[in-house]
Amino acid sequence: MANVAIIGAQWGDEGKGKIVDLFTQDADIVVRFQGGNNAGHTLVVDGEKTVLHLVPSGALHPDKLCVIGNGVVVDPEILIQEIDGLKRRGHLQDDSRLRISEQAHVIMPYHKAIDLARERLRGKGKIGTTGRGIGPAYEDKIARVGIRFIDLLEEDTFRDKLQRNIEEKNFYLKAILQEKALDFNEIHEGYGRYRVRLRGYVTDTGLLLDREIRAGKRVLFEGAQGTLLDVDHGTYPFVTSSSTITGGACSGSGVGPQHIQQIIGISKAYTTRVGSGPFPTEIDGPDGETLRREGAEFGATTGRSRRCGWFDAVGVRHAVRTNGLTGLALTKLDVLTGFKKIPICTAYRYEGKAVNEFPASSKVMQGAEPVYEKMDGWDAPLDDVRKFSDLPANAQKYVRRIEEVIGTEIILVSVGPGRERTILLKNPFGEA
Ligand code: GDP
Ligand code: IMO
Ligand code: MG
Repeated sequence: MANVAIIGAQWGDEGKGKIVDLFTQDADIVVRFQGGNNAGHTLVVDGEKTVLHLVPSGALHPDKLCVIGNGVVVDPEILIQEIDGLKRRGHLQDDSRLRISEQAHVIMPYHKAIDLARERLRGKGKIGTTGRGIGPAYEDKIARVGIRFIDLLEEDTFRDKLQRNIEEKNFYLKAILQEKALDFNEIHEGYGRYRVRLRGYVTDTGLLLDREIRAGKRVLFEGAQGTLLDVDHGTYPFVTSSSTITGGACSGSGVGPQHIQQIIGISKAYTTRVGSGPFPTEIDGPDGETLRREGAEFGATTGRSRRCGWFDAVGVRHAVRTNGLTGLALTKLDVLTGFKKIPICTAYRYEGKAVNEFPASSKVMQGAEPVYEKMDGWDAPLDDVRKFSDLPANAQKYVRRIEEVIGTEIILVSVGPGRERTILLKNPFGEA
C-alpha cells in the first residue's frame, strides 16, 4: 500500500496544488508538513479556481481527511479566513475532515512585524520574503520560545508565553528595527478568539496518522515551496526557513520514513522564481516575457511577477538526489508551444570550468552561466492532449530528453491548469 509525497523540485510554484488535488482521488488523507501561508497552491476544477495557503490541497474532495502537520507554521487568522471561504463555497462542510497538529507553531503578529521590518532594512539585499512572518516563526521554534497550538489551547500557558515573548519582541522591534511596540492585550484577546474558533480541529495528528496508516489508509504528503528554497539544500540565504524536502515530510508530520514509498517531484517544463537570489537560467528579454504571459506567472500568494527562465537540469538533478525522487511530474508543457528552439540547461560553467552539481557557494551560483542544449520546438497547442503519444513529436522528444538529463522517470505531464488537463503515465499509488 503506497503512501506518496509530492515535493517541489525547483523554487516553488511548480504546480504542486494541481497534482495533489489530482492524486487525492486515490488517497484517504492529505497532509501539509511544512511552510505556512507563504505557500499558494492553485487548484482548477470544472473551470473554477481555488487558491489554498494552509488547508491541504485535498480540500475539494468531500470525503478525504486534511491534516495540517506539526511542521507547519499557522497564522490562525488566515486559516480561519480560508476555512470560512471554503465553507461558503460548499467545501469542508464536515469539521472532522480537517485536523491541526497540537504541535504546529502559531504565527504571531510580532513575527509578521519583524519579517516586514527586516526586509525593509535590508533594502536592495532583501530576500524578497512573502512577509507572512514565516522566518521569525521558525526562528522562535528553533530557539524554543515558540507558541504551539497546544500552548494556545491552555489559557494560562498562552498568557505566560505571550507575556515573555512580547517583552523581548517589543524591545527588539523598537530598539533594533525602529518599529512600534505591539499591545499585549490586543493580541491576547484576538488569539483568545482564535482559540475558541480553532479548538475543535486541534489534535495529536502524528498519532492519528499512525493509526490510519496501520489501518491501511493511503496518505498523500503535500510539500510547499521547493527543494531549491530548502533551508539546508537551497540557495541559502535566499531560501525559506523550513525543510522542504522529503525528509521534512517525516519530521513535519511525525510519520516514519518507511511509510513513504513513492516520492514525486514536481517541476515546470521551464523554471520560475519569486523573490531575490541566484537564478542561472533566468531570461532577460522577450522570451522571458512570453513565458510570463503564456504561463500567467504571477505569484498565487503575493501577486508578484515571477522571474522566468529555461529548464535547469542541474537544479532538478539536485532535487532528485536530495529528495530520493522516484518520479517526476512535469507541468506547464503547454506554455512552451510556439517557441522555435527550447534550451535545456544541462550544466553550469563558472570561470571556464564545467559545474555539474548544484553549488553551495553563493558566489559560484551568482556567477554560474548555463550550458544549453537546444531542442526543437512545436506549434500545436497541447491543451486537449491526454495521451503521451498524441503530443507533437518534438514535445515528446523534449520530455524524454529531460528524463535523460535528470536521471529519473517522468510519470505525468501537465498541459493546463485544470485537473483534467493531464497526461498520466504512471500512478504513484499503483493501480489504485
Ligand atoms: P504550487 O505553489 O506549486 O501549487 O503552484 P502555484 O499554484 O503557485 O502555481 C502554478 C500555476 O500554474 C497555477 O496558476 C496553476 O493553475 C498553473 N498550472 C498548473 N499546471 C499547469 C499546466 O500544466 N499548464 C498551465 N498553463 N498552467 C498550469
Ligand atoms: P509554494 O508552496 C514560491 C519564497 C519567497 C522568498 C523566499 C523566502 O506556493 O510553492 P518566506 O516568506 O518563505 O520567508 O520567503 O521563499 N517563497 C516561495 N516562492 N512559492 C512558494 O510557495 C514560496 N514560499 C516562499 O518568495 O523568495
Ligand atoms: Mg505557489
